[in-house]
Amino acid sequence: MKLSPKLAIFSSSAAAAAAACVLVSEKSIMTSEYNLKTDKVSSPLRVVALSDLHFSSFGRDNKRLIEAVEKAEPDIILLSGDFFDFRSGRSNGDIVVKTLKALSSVARTYMSPGNHELRYNIKTGKNCFEYAENAGVTVLNGEYRDIEIKGQKVRIGGVYDHAAHIEDFADWHESKVYSFLREFENTPSLTLLMLHRPNTFIYTRDLYKDEVWDIGAVFSGHGHGGIWRVPFLGGVYAPEQGFFPEYDRGEYSFGKTKMYLSSGLEGYYFVPRLFNRPEIIKLIIDK
Ligand SMILES: [Fe+2]
Repeated sequence: MKLSPKLAIFSSSAAAAAAACVLVSEKSIMTSEYNLKTDKVSSPLRVVALSDLHFSSFGRDNKRLIEAVEKAEPDIILLSGDFFDFRSGRSNGDIVVKTLKALSSVARTYMSPGNHELRYNIKTGKNCFEYAENAGVTVLNGEYRDIEIKGQKVRIGGVYDHAAHIEDFADWHESKVYSFLREFENTPSLTLLMLHRPNTFIYTRDLYKDEVWDIGAVFSGHGHGGIWRVPFLGGVYAPEQGFFPEYDRGEYSFGKTKMYLSSGLEGYYFVPRLFNRPEIIKLIIDK
């Protein structure tokens, strides 16, 4: 069948527009800025949080990503997992190592594992956490550090939430994650937590309604913002939550705890992002 000239022009314009949408959604980084008020700081602190790079590159050696981070002028950089990627054909960690080195020269950088780091180590027999440490990044997996930033006491923690589905929370109060989080929050310092999967707080909020958490800020990812975003409806799909997830990206409250859920930097397996720009989070914490 031969297309009429008008139909041919319309079809090629529609294809070009769709390609442009995918390109912008995949490669045009945006910075989402939030403010957190707390009496645990005496002067402003700037946190930049990133998630879900999955070996991607924004320009050669992630030049555009590093520039976007520098522009946010972070006092500290927190990486909430899935910077590496376990999938076959994507086992070269060089780009991540270069990116981690560049980030750690911008500001002190901490990282917690995502599901991909854990699977990467199992699948390749390598240790991506060693690569990260050698690149100047402190890896926290079920650990925390008490540090000072600009003369202010801050507790930085990282943990991988093992539980993906609601039934895993039957023994929640006996779990290692629970006791880690309770110990972590027990300090007069400002607390900042990297937690790749947001599930822990989402599911336990419904199960244990009287549970009160007092963590300053939690930085999560994993859902890639719903991968595709539909106007007025938000993200289309997030692992474990399913279609049109309630928690796709943005700021959420769990008791006294704020969660900043990033839409990350990459697509999901072979599915490109759509109407969902790669995101870096900038959180300004002030009294
Ligand atoms: Fe991811």
